[in-house]
Amino acid sequence: MLSKDYLRMAGAAIGKRLAALPEYRVAGTVLAFASTANEPDIWPFLRRVLADGKHLALPVCTGPGLMEFRVVTELDTLASGRYGILEPPAESELVPPEAIDFAVIPCVTCNVAGDRLGHGGGYYDRFLAVYAGPAAAVCPKTLMREAIPIGPLDRPVPIVVTERDTYRRQKGEYAMKVLMLNGSPRVNGNTSVALAEMEKVFAEEGIEVETIQVGGRAIRGCMACNGCAKKGKCVFDDAVNEIAPKFEACDGLVVASPVYYASANATLVALLDRLFYSTPFDKTMKVGASVVVARRGGLSATFDELNKYFTISGMPVASSQYWNSVHGLAKGEAAQDGEGLQTMRTLARNMAFLMKCIALGREQYGLPKTEPRVATNFIH
Ligand SMILES: Cc1cc2nc3c(=O)[nH]c(=O)nc-3n(C[C@H](O)[C@H](O)[C@H](O)COP(=O)(O)O)c2cc1C
Repeated sequence: MLSKDYLRMAGAAIGKRLAALPEYRVAGTVLAFASTANEPDIWPFLRRVLADGKHLALPVCTGPGLMEFRVVTELDTLASGRYGILEPPAESELVPPEAIDFAVIPCVTCNVAGDRLGHGGGYYDRFLAVYAGPAAAVCPKTLMREAIPIGPLDRPVPIVVTERDTYRRQKGEYAMKVLMLNGSPRVNGNTSVALAEMEKVFAEEGIEVETIQVGGRAIRGCMACNGCAKKGKCVFDDAVNEIAPKFEACDGLVVASPVYYASANATLVALLDRLFYSTPFDKTMKVGASVVVARRGGLSATFDELNKYFTISGMPVASSQYWNSVHGLAKGEAAQDGEGLQTMRTLARNMAFLMKCIALGREQYGLPKTEPRVATNFIH
């Protein structure tokens, strides 16, 4: 029996992982389940689905081994059904399996390959037999097992999400993450338009994306105190230390900035100086890409400026069909820059390819050997 606290914590973390999946981000209709007291508490995720403006469908048990799915618009309209599980009202709109874009599925236990055991009624196996879209089983880490006894009717799920990890079933397909830092202070500004274009491609490529808008945050510059050398993190506990573990966990980093006086946004520069300087982990072979957005001038200078963070860190730089720039002045104007947006899509595709190649290469050849560091400062 798992404790309530663990199920609450696991459910919250699982919900965040689900919401970051590319399959979720592009989904219009999401099937999930009303978790019971013995399951990871995914109620925060259900609220998130509604808040994101997606259609939420929940199961209604209609007979032994049979269920249908109905739309939920308000969670407090749910009522206890068969087995005491909360269900949508009978009069709410029916959702056929083919209308579901992403399915979140419970299990009693499962393994990293997506083999799962349910409660034994075959409800979800029947659904998975007719459902062709993306599906993720949610399982507390502690309930994961290596070997799952699978019967002929049992259906595996392509994705498994625990509070700690996301696993994908396909052999040779890697669960990869891209972190995007948006250096604009303007919410839904032109830099967001450029990054959104890249996100669509990453979703198609099955790459998880987290975007953090840093331009409007209060981020101070580096004090050159070198306290990070002892602490392993920056002495100022702000966005830098919050982003550091996400940077460590990602396979690719996109740094995007509006051009200010032919240079990058100063807040972004303060963040990057401290992030790259204070983090002790190896950044070798994380793929970097920079994106610059301006009304008219200073783009390629800013592009060069941002790429330098990658090229001093052993990070291969993804490139596109043109320097990675998008034009626009007023908020949203960038949507009219057809060439700029195509450049973003090409960049995302090239970046995805490079990340996959590196994942394969790392498996086959390992990362390049490193030598002990020689550091001279031109005086001695
Ligand atoms: C302080 C400041 C300086 C700027 N300097 C430049 C510049 O040097 N060259 C340019 O073409 N646009 C410049 N711009 C315009 C922005 O780059 C442009 O509006 C861009 O779309 C902003 O991106 P955002 O909407 O993501 O914030 C400047 C804007 C501001 C606020």
